[in-house]
Amino acid sequence: MALDRPRALSGIQPTAGSFHLGNYLGAIRQYVALQETHDAFYTVVDLHAITVPQDPAELRANSRLAAAQLLASGLDPDRCTLFIQSHVPEHAQLGWVMNCLTGFGEASRMTQFKDKSAKHGADRATVGLFTYPILQVADILLYQANHVPVGEDQRQHIELTRDLADRFNGRFGETFTVPEPYIVKETGKIYDLQDPTVKMSKSASTPKGIVSLLDEPKVSAKKIKSAVTDLETEIRFDEEKKPGVSNLLTIYSTLTGTAIAELERRYEGKGYGALKTDLSEVLVEWVTPFRERTQEYLGDPATLDGILAKGADKARAVAAETLADAYDKVGFLPAVR
Ligand code: TRP
Repeated sequence: MALDRPRALSGIQPTAGSFHLGNYLGAIRQYVALQETHDAFYTVVDLHAITVPQDPAELRANSRLAAAQLLASGLDPDRCTLFIQSHVPEHAQLGWVMNCLTGFGEASRMTQFKDKSAKHGADRATVGLFTYPILQVADILLYQANHVPVGEDQRQHIELTRDLADRFNGRFGETFTVPEPYIVKETGKIYDLQDPTVKMSKSASTPKGIVSLLDEPKVSAKKIKSAVTDLETEIRFDEEKKPGVSNLLTIYSTLTGTAIAELERRYEGKGYGALKTDLSEVLVEWVTPFRERTQEYLGDPATLDGILAKGADKARAVAAETLADAYDKVGFLPAVR
């Protein structure tokens, strides 16, 4: 892997089952692109997944499913490092050191924790959920990442990462690269098909508003055709006045690489029906091979697990070096073997 390239690291929760169009167009497409410009590390964060109650068999299946979908999306194990977080024990080890550097009040200010713990009932929230952002800090710092591709909702966790990297470096000497957030551009934001004012997301969307990539393509096509638009007929990008149509144009544009202005021109004088029919065809054409590739990986777990084992080896080589340095800096006695 070329050393002159900046490092990127991102983590993906294995809790989602099927990825949806918002995940793909918002984040995963970005991961695929970053393979060209970065020494990129992508990890399926199963340690994070157990911060809320989980079913063991489901977690195991979802971890493979997430990896299979990432590969089907175009992550190439020869051009990036894809691994399962729990396969690299250094994450938990550096996480502990970072816990001991974080203020209780500082962790208490994390808004995602406040939201999630409120949702599950504050007194049922685990300590793991509380320290979730600090484990995320370890994920990033272990790889000396320069860039962290994430959504806007993760900005506070990246700020915490920067603060803790600075704090550690200041207290113990230069050890960690201070990373920058790499927030995916607005064009990547996909909205619910039934309520185009909220983000397409597993927690907020109704089944009709969300396109699951592993659904029957026919089902997805139907969802596009029944997407909420507005009472006009004009196909024009205007997120304020025409959020539904604008969302369809964004999806169309990002799936095909056609500029929105070009699409507006192409559909001048045509109705919403034409746009929806064409977009549903575009989607079916994209989703069909994606499903096939995912099924291939899932049908051959030995190959999939082999890819993940190689990824873990590659990740571990980097992570072990960083951890050894951090352990030494905080004053742990070297283990002599
Ligand atoms: N918290 C991130 C999310 O919910 C997932 C994540 C875990 C992550 N570790 C990370 C993202 C490290 C970026 C870098 O999306």
